[in-house]
Amino acid sequence: MSNKKFRGTDVLLHEKRVFEPKEDVLNRSLVKNWDEEIEKGKDIEKYWAEKAEQFVWFKKWNKILDESNKPFYQWFTGGKINLTYNAVDRWIETGKRNSLAIIYINERGEEIKLTFYELYTHVNKMANALKNLGVVKGDVVSIYMPMCIESIISMLACAKIGAIHNVVYSGLSVGSFVERMNDSKSKILIAADGTYRRGKIIDLKNIVDEAILRCPSIQSVVVINHVKESYELAELSGIELLYDRLVEGESSYCEPVWLNSEDPLFILYTSGSVGEPKGVIHTTAGYMVGVATTLKYNFDIHDDDLWWCTGDIGWITGHSYSVYGPLLLGTTSIIYEGGPDFPDPGIWWKIIEKYGVTKFYTSPTAIRHLMRFGERYAKLYDLSSLRILGTVGETLNPEAWMWFYRNIGNKNCPIIDTWWQTENGMHLIAPTPTISLKPGSVAKPFPGIEADIFDDDGNSLPPGQGGHLVIKKPWPAMFRTLLNNDERFLDTYWNDFPECVFKSGDLARKDEDGYFWIQGRSDDILKVAGHRIGSSEVESALVSHPAISEASVIGKKDPVKGEVIKAFVILKGGYKFDSKLIEELKEHVGHELGPVAVIGEITSVDNLPKTRSGKIMRRILRAKDTGEELGDTSTLDM
Ligand code: WTA
Repeated sequence: MSNKKFRGTDVLLHEKRVFEPKEDVLNRSLVKNWDEEIEKGKDIEKYWAEKAEQFVWFKKWNKILDESNKPFYQWFTGGKINLTYNAVDRWIETGKRNSLAIIYINERGEEIKLTFYELYTHVNKMANALKNLGVVKGDVVSIYMPMCIESIISMLACAKIGAIHNVVYSGLSVGSFVERMNDSKSKILIAADGTYRRGKIIDLKNIVDEAILRCPSIQSVVVINHVKESYELAELSGIELLYDRLVEGESSYCEPVWLNSEDPLFILYTSGSVGEPKGVIHTTAGYMVGVATTLKYNFDIHDDDLWWCTGDIGWITGHSYSVYGPLLLGTTSIIYEGGPDFPDPGIWWKIIEKYGVTKFYTSPTAIRHLMRFGERYAKLYDLSSLRILGTVGETLNPEAWMWFYRNIGNKNCPIIDTWWQTENGMHLIAPTPTISLKPGSVAKPFPGIEADIFDDDGNSLPPGQGGHLVIKKPWPAMFRTLLNNDERFLDTYWNDFPECVFKSGDLARKDEDGYFWIQGRSDDILKVAGHRIGSSEVESALVSHPAISEASVIGKKDPVKGEVIKAFVILKGGYKFDSKLIEELKEHVGHELGPVAVIGEITSVDNLPKTRSGKIMRRILRAKDTGEELGDTSTLDM
């Protein structure tokens, strides 16, 4: 081993609050003793096989985990299964036949409710229609739609017949949309004509019209008239078909195609910090087992729950926990087309009150945004139906955690801060409702997940030292490769450490209790006077000042210190950005994190560059600061 020891990150956020599970949460919980469950997970094959038994298999697997070609792991090989059958058809035979599968709502207050039976017939009609368009197993179908029932129907219809869906976020520009359709050689596009956003109609049809001219592989476009009442035939091009007419007259029965466990289920593009977007590939059986199991235990899902995940289907959160996860558990969910602050920042709380949502899963960026408007909106509504709250996507800074806990959960709801990635498919590190919670920590790896912190040489670091967050054992919902790019798959995730350890690209540390604390992307690390500091910790310290609602930090070259911290902050209403506040913020960060965290410069901004899924893009702040090229901006929310 070389001497080049990764010393880890030097500054640690000293968050000491701990919240123990309440009596009623413990009583209700499916699993009382999480440590036992974690212990069971040590035999990963046995653990996941037990979970897989709970689904309907056309043919059972021969091998639980095939490690013969690492890291191209395979799960449940030899098995035959259909995901849509397990998410929808299965419930038709049970008492859930007429229960609600989906409650769709939009910002205009319109509502559509679908029972499992209704969803089943819609999916079957669409699946038959796709077959009539010539779609066969293995074909790629792109979906460019907002959160609406047809987008979910389309995903499930693809999965029913073995077509691979490629959902492209409906806010992406023409260029990125075209790139994703061409890279995946999509045969069919299913697109909505528009979406509602903040009281306006956003036209998607014109983007589609432009895009298909540049996508030679597309043979047909199915147009969903989502915002427009009707279309004249003359308004459609030769390859465009209207969804309503297409499914009309189709049979409401469709035989599921029994797929091999490892047949691809979907492609989902995720942007890298450098280079082209990556087409992440997920397969059928392992994804199904991983997603359903993590949702069930992390959010303690019962039959009477009303689940609401605000993640858009354009992102992995939407795939795993707005669409597949809840349906696989037979849970009713809310699908909402709209943002958190229109017509006012109370809209989400109003929906929770009206429908009696019990489990609510959202993003830290949405919470920090809503915090800016104070507590008064939450106070207008009765949120007592809520039992569990959760977040994903970024660090839930301790202050935001407390705000969510107090104002939305009324100190009764555990907060499940889940760490995972598009590549992971499912939660990998997260608390469960029955364990102690620490604001700002993602708690422990899920049973069957072996996570660790490594230095650059692949040595495991002791508690308290930050380093690379790695996963040492395979898990069922893991991505299988990057589309057409095994080499990039190996280089980005597997080659840095021996023995096929997955490198997440995030920095984290463990504490003495084995709780994980995410410190940010390793690309965003700060190096001040030789000290390595995780961006999240400085940002959490800034957000813990009462004047600040959001913050982002980057390293800025400095002739003396090598790098100093430059902070971009968004002020809460009622505060003035002046030299007094700047001094106070610098002192506050020094007080919270220690003398190493010297902030060189603070700028007040109205907005931070974010991905459309709400993540702060520090790389854009850095590039703008130095005047360098912005790189891949396809997911930047402009
Ligand atoms: C970040 C989202 C801190 C992390 C499901 C990861 C988080 C990236 C958390 C993946 C969390 C996700 N705390 N950071 N709880 N969850 N991240 O692919 O940097 O859109 O690598 O998947 O988001 O983002 P992705």
